Amino acid sequence: MTRILGISGSLRAASFNTALLRAARRAAPEGVEIEIATLHGIPLYDGDLEAATGIPEAVDALKARIRASDALLLATPEYNNGMPGVLKNAIDWLSRPAGELRQLFGGRPLALMGASPSGFGTLLAQAAWLPVLKSLGVQVWPGKSLMLSRAHQSIGADGEIVDEAALKTIADFVAGYAASLEGR
Ligand SMILES: Cc1cc2nc3c(=O)[nH]c(=O)nc-3n(C[C@H](O)[C@H](O)[C@H](O)COP(=O)(O)O)c2cc1C
Repeated sequence: MTRILGISGSLRAASFNTALLRAARRAAPEGVEIEIATLHGIPLYDGDLEAATGIPEAVDALKARIRASDALLLATPEYNNGMPGVLKNAIDWLSRPAGELRQLFGGRPLALMGASPSGFGTLLAQAAWLPVLKSLGVQVWPGKSLMLSRAHQSIGADGEIVDEAALKTIADFVAGYAASLEGR
């Protein structure tokens, strides 16, 4: 069984990005399991807090889930043409204490995707992530792009992605990523 940990960069209950991860989870091929993590409970990074009380519980719990996975799948919102602070903040915590970054992320496969109501579907946020992901030492999957544009039009009344074309794009993306992980 290949275990992929999906991390949503949105805290919203009705998040398009978390919905994207749920659709990816449903589309996972045989032998692949996608779990979904959210970033609730992670405080803002503060060096004084770290010095006084160490790594917060919510961060340690996420680290354990990352270690238990074979690969990562980041679903990033786009805020003001860049990455959301919530997700960058979580990555900053995950990189602590010093030296942790390479141990936790080094060589770990990661695929990036995102959903937004705009016509560009997180294009700029995904581009902004690339130098950060390089610093983590992850192996970014170069196979396909998944930028779900006009996400609000793909979502049904139940908050799930129902648009057939979008679901096919998601399924193709997940299948491609899963295939890239085979035999690792
Ligand atoms: C502060 C802020 C800035 C935003 N900037 C952008 C943007 O630059 N590009 C974009 O496509 N959407 C932008 N949006 C809209 C988000 O894509 C939208 O709120 C989306 O639903 C967020 O993802 P989520 O549904 O997973 O929470 C912005 C939203 C907020 C709250």
